[in-house]
Amino acid sequence: MSETTFTMLKPDCVQRGLIGEVISRLEKKGLRITAMKMINIDRETAAEHYKEHVGKDFYEPLLEYICSGPVVVMAVTGDSAISVLRTVVGKTDPKEASPGTVRGDLALEVSRNMIHAADSKESAERELNIFFDEEEYIDYRRVEEDWIYP
Ligand code: RTP
Ligand code: MG
Repeated sequence: MSETTFTMLKPDCVQRGLIGEVISRLEKKGLRITAMKMINIDRETAAEHYKEHVGKDFYEPLLEYICSGPVVVMAVTGDSAISVLRTVVGKTDPKEASPGTVRGDLALEVSRNMIHAADSKESAERELNIFFDEEEYIDYRRVEEDWIYP
């Protein structure tokens, strides 16, 4: 079933020049970017986005990290996109993430783990609403989709 999920290339991804590398992996998997922009996140928006983690040890450093430089936010659409993207991203701690995943291949520290991906249908909807307005979504199909989805 086609789903749309939310993902963010975090400040370390942007600063390390790995935007293209990560987007390329999503594209090659067969996922379609349906909204995308580069932004600086203010503290209020970061707090809303990560509100499930309020009070945890890593909460304050996490907000500082996410606000420390530009990020790229995207809506990504495809068959089972929410779980597929989590698989492409890999485990939260890059030390445990499998080779072949973004975090497994490109990161080493949990506090600099390159990319965020929504973890459920509810999170995806909530997070997409934080970062995108309805008119920012682009409705199109990629020419090779008939080959990705038989
Ligand atoms: P994300 O939300 O960023 O996609 O990551 P996730 O679902 O894999 O992990 P989550 O539990 O939601 O944690 C959010 C982010 O907080 C940082 N974190 N640091 N022990 C730690 O120091 C720790 N645990 C989590 C990571 O940047 C993680 O992505
Ligand atoms: Mg999470």
